Amino acid sequence: MSQPQKGVCAEPNLHAQYLLFNVSDDDATEVRAKLARILDIFDHYDKEHYEAMVTGMIAVGESYWQELYPGPVPSELSAFPDVQCDDRSAPVTQCDLFIQIRTDRVDICYAIGLEVMELMRLHAELVESVSGFRYLDGRDLNGFVYGANNPRGLKRREMAIIGDENPLFAGGSYIHVQCYKHDLRRWHSLSERQQEQVMGVTKEHNLVSPECSDSSHVIRAATNWSDESHENLILQGMPYGDMTTQGLFFVCCANSPRIFKSRLYSQVVGTSEGDYDRWLDFTSAESGGAYFAPSVTFIQESVSRF
Ligand code: HEM
Repeated sequence: MSQPQKGVCAEPNLHAQYLLFNVSDDDATEVRAKLARILDIFDHYDKEHYEAMVTGMIAVGESYWQELYPGPVPSELSAFPDVQCDDRSAPVTQCDLFIQIRTDRVDICYAIGLEVMELMRLHAELVESVSGFRYLDGRDLNGFVYGANNPRGLKRREMAIIGDENPLFAGGSYIHVQCYKHDLRRWHSLSERQQEQVMGVTKEHNLVSPECSDSSHVIRAATNWSDESHENLILQGMPYGDMTTQGLFFVCCANSPRIFKSRLYSQVVGTSEGDYDRWLDFTSAESGGAYFAPSVTFIQESVSRF
């Protein structure tokens, strides 16, 4: 199978740099070559600083794919869903490129980010740059353990990576990205019991909460698929924040975009009984985009293919 990019199935890291670009250069040949060079940078830092556990990912925006790689398009690559209901929404701010850098050393994360910026300088404009960090023992800033129910071991690859049945895009993954901003003051005005009602799990140990209901986050986020074992998301986002603004930079990877889309709909719109995801009363998405992370092999071979 074509080699997937390390960042798709990566285990959690301590630091992240998320970069979103819009390409200004009409010469796609140059951009394809630069993307392959970025993979070399990830590799270089991984080898030189193995203890930093460098994992990187380059993903191409759904509206830019054809221009960058003329020819076949990943069959399910489509626009980020424009979902809204009452005062809840998932804004679409599609960019051309999404680059995720993750490491266990903040200096290495920064150094890679600078090198990526220098490579892209003449070709693209930076639209969004978010630094993520591990918070406590892997918690969101709302205090609940985040990503704990991610598939483990070989299941990660099975859930996130396209298999050999699709030879051209094998090793690739569908990526959805959203930047959420939390209202932590409002969140902290709730008691722990009320917070557990909202999230549907216990705060300390991430067990199913006796307070869990149809409007709890874990219920609304977990659509019942006929065959759960073949469809799931890998949550790769991390908290971000400074002293005034905090949130979660949400990133998910899957072998099909259907899973994310249905879960997002289930959260924002909810059921006919009015059960939407109550966590959305305390956080809101400020950006969103749909991307495809092709395999390492695809990115490298594309430099000479076109
Ligand atoms: C601000 C944003 C979000 C926060 C802070 C958050 C937090 C959490 C927490 C604490 C859990 C329970 C522990 C765990 O399983 O990781 C969870 C579960 C989950 N969340 Fe979120 N979440 C957010 C947004 C989303 C979005 C946008 C989606 C998908 C559209 C999503 C999908 C899931 C899934 C699939 C689970 C696992 C449910 C299961 O047990 O099967 N989350 N989330």
